Amino acid sequence: MANIRASVTVPPTAVANPQNFSESHTLQPKAHRLIPGGAHTYAKGDDQFPERAPAFIVRGQGCHVWDIDGNEFIEYGMGLRAVTLGHAFQPVVDAAYRQLQLGINFTRPAKIEVDLAEALLEIVDGADMVKFAKNGSDVNTAAVKLARAYTGRDLIAICGDQPFFAIDDWFIGTTKMDAGIPRTIAELTLKFRYNDLGSLRDVFDQHPGRIACVVMEAEAMTPPAPGYLNRVKELCEERGAVLVFDEMITGFRWHLGGAQKFHGVVPHLSTFGKAMGNGFAISALVGKREIMRLGGLDHDQARVFLLSTTHGAETHALAASLETISIYRERKVVEFLWKQGERLRTLISRSIAENHLEGFFELVGRPCNLVFATCDQDGKRSQAFRTLFLQELIRRGVIPPSFVVSFSHTDEDIDRTAGAVHDAHIVYRKALDEGFEKYLEGRPVKPVNRRFN
Ligand SMILES: Cc1ncc(COP(=O)(O)O)c(C=O)c1O
Repeated sequence: MANIRASVTVPPTAVANPQNFSESHTLQPKAHRLIPGGAHTYAKGDDQFPERAPAFIVRGQGCHVWDIDGNEFIEYGMGLRAVTLGHAFQPVVDAAYRQLQLGINFTRPAKIEVDLAEALLEIVDGADMVKFAKNGSDVNTAAVKLARAYTGRDLIAICGDQPFFAIDDWFIGTTKMDAGIPRTIAELTLKFRYNDLGSLRDVFDQHPGRIACVVMEAEAMTPPAPGYLNRVKELCEERGAVLVFDEMITGFRWHLGGAQKFHGVVPHLSTFGKAMGNGFAISALVGKREIMRLGGLDHDQARVFLLSTTHGAETHALAASLETISIYRERKVVEFLWKQGERLRTLISRSIAENHLEGFFELVGRPCNLVFATCDQDGKRSQAFRTLFLQELIRRGVIPPSFVVSFSHTDEDIDRTAGAVHDAHIVYRKALDEGFEKYLEGRPVKPVNRRFN
């Protein structure tokens, strides 16, 4: 098979430029002294990266970032998949800045709240109303509360194969990291398996008339079996439950209208966030008027306290979102994400074959949301091998918790990444044959969701 370097123009990786992480290492203890976990998202924490890694970023432009020591990296999965256009993406920054100068928060609603509501509802099929917030957890939790109020039921069913829905008790109470959450709350959340209609039917059968809603991503790492999502919706309607699609990752990535549009299944409620503001703090709960209106002023049922927050409609974040939506429309952003992800997938697959890594290093997910799985010499999932791979990529100027691309990943960035992956794969292969201990500098990473440190 042709060598990857012969088949694409692969610029040299940054390995020739020795990285220095001294400023990062100096600041780390202070960060941990001042901030529990040293970061404001566990997924960004030190335990998620090799010891030989940049610990603090000071600047980003497009898909490139610079750390506190001045090292430059090509970044993937930027801002936990929120920054889909690129860091400091000028038209979005300009739109937010123009709005900042007009004021960001008033005593009455700002007109731009209605403008963005209209723009978003044009994109999301079958949704009649929207409420904005600042993060995904709040809108998912609002969807659960609304569904409970609408149905008068207390239990919720979540897809147990999908990793994350909210920082709130109804979800975190079901994870290993459930300290501080009363068991009685966790017991109200039940789990079903993805692509297994029978497991959802069992949940309904075991708790007749008690399930308020089904919360799931229409698709995460595995595509839905033909007809599965439609049947989930039918089952929900048959049993009187509300179907909620979490579009935090899929929204503006599978399709501008989300995975629901991609798969042609309209849920009763859905939630968007992350990409909708290219990293600005903005999220949305959207859905059917009949349900959403319980949070409003025009009904005579019990009032639902639906997402009333001080910062929920900060105008600059709404302006950023309006601009983001118009860029997606004008510049075919979603098509680009799929194309660049496919380019990367093709090149990395070639490297997997060349380095005989089938069964040890695997690419998973859609091109627009590509991630990787690492296995040891026995084919078992391995955090040590994940850490080694991250370490070797970082050494070559790429920082990848995933291979999730943005609109700013040019062909050159993709090809440069592929070159770095190829070289990291060579080390990976050697580590499979000789033991990772020989190559890994420091301790392996650990899963975020664990009971003890
Ligand atoms: C699928 C999904 N839902 C919800 C959330 C929560 O979003 P946030 O971190 O904005 O609260 C996340 C965050 O990563 C997510 O991936």
